[in-house]
Amino acid sequence: MIYLDNAATSPMRPEVRDAMLPYLESVFGNPSGLYAVGREAQAAVDAARTTVAACLGARPAEVIFTSGGTESINTALQGIAYAMRRAGAGAHVITTAIEHHAGLHAAQFLEESGFDVTYIGCDHSGHVRIDEFAAALRPDTILASVMLANNEVGAVQPIAEIAGVLRDYAHRQQHRVLLHTDAVQAPGWLPLEVNALGVDALSLSSHKFGGPKGSGILYLRRATPFHQLLLGGGQEMQKRAGTENVPGIVGTGVALERAATGIRERAARVRTLRDRLRDGILAATSGTTVNGCQQSCVPNNLNIAFDGIESESLVLGLDAAGIAASSGSACSNSTWEPSHVLMAMGVPIRRAVGSVRFSLGDATTEADIEEVIRAVPREVARIRAENASPVRV
Ligand SMILES: Cc1ncc(COP(=O)(O)O)c(C=O)c1O
Repeated sequence: MIYLDNAATSPMRPEVRDAMLPYLESVFGNPSGLYAVGREAQAAVDAARTTVAACLGARPAEVIFTSGGTESINTALQGIAYAMRRAGAGAHVITTAIEHHAGLHAAQFLEESGFDVTYIGCDHSGHVRIDEFAAALRPDTILASVMLANNEVGAVQPIAEIAGVLRDYAHRQQHRVLLHTDAVQAPGWLPLEVNALGVDALSLSSHKFGGPKGSGILYLRRATPFHQLLLGGGQEMQKRAGTENVPGIVGTGVALERAATGIRERAARVRTLRDRLRDGILAATSGTTVNGCQQSCVPNNLNIAFDGIESESLVLGLDAAGIAASSGSACSNSTWEPSHVLMAMGVPIRRAVGSVRFSLGDATTEADIEEVIRAVPREVARIRAENASPVRV
């Protein structure tokens, strides 16, 4: 199989698996246990927390382990919004129309709970506009949540600039707005230094960067107002109750450390492959358009609209040829709606429904790319011919 759906999930790194194995077998203790096997599990969780904190330029006490990106995002949005409202700071939240459904649906839930939410749009390349963001700020704004890299078109959002706008606003208005970013698509491709980004909260999902599924990270800056969502035991510094997923946490630490190493070289190699894939497909297939500008975006993402076909047909045709790609967002594949991201970018609906995302990874080779460049025009031509042929009875 040629796997070009790394934005949906990535293969687990062998060293991650190796690091996890002891915690699936002999070191099975509950980290709360006072005996040796419990203490050993607790030591592994502590070590992973220290590693993750170092990768993010954060303090270990600011790292909360969760069950994945979705939980981190929901926890950040609800946890901060409720705490700020309770403190009387206001009830207005700003987010974007191009967030992953985890962020969008969490924001919609806040609306149902009495918050006012502004959804800012984006330009044709999938980037939010700083001026639109700044104009949305109000005296009762408490939280902004803007993703770092979009999962469908790869556009990297100007988070550090947005943080700068919020700092100026706080200075002028004496009113602080907290900033969360969904950075799920960023590890391995972008540096994730929380102070350089200027964020108060940041969400990650381990399986997107060579770690295990069902594990994630929420960075929460020290002293950020926070209302705990999952109640129970005192785990995760009283911020997220529940017995720790020790193997998942250990794997997360190793995977993030690997993803944070050699970013520049990895990005350069994959960008070259991505550009070759784009140029090869566009040269050999008529009626194709790249969604997004490919500038200021993660280097592994290529989203192409194929005129006159439905993306599902192409994805299934490529699958039969041993190639895994995605029609829009993998997470919204079950719903037959055009991508909300492509709609927000102003992509015409007929193009949006024929758009396919190819997302490369560390394992992608030149030979893979050449094979895909041969297969895509062949499959597109076949589907277009089928669509054009009269219906037989
Ligand atoms: C940008 C983004 N945010 C959040 C998520 C949710 O992550 P998970 O499904 O691992 O909880 C995804 C998954 O595709 C994503 O791409």
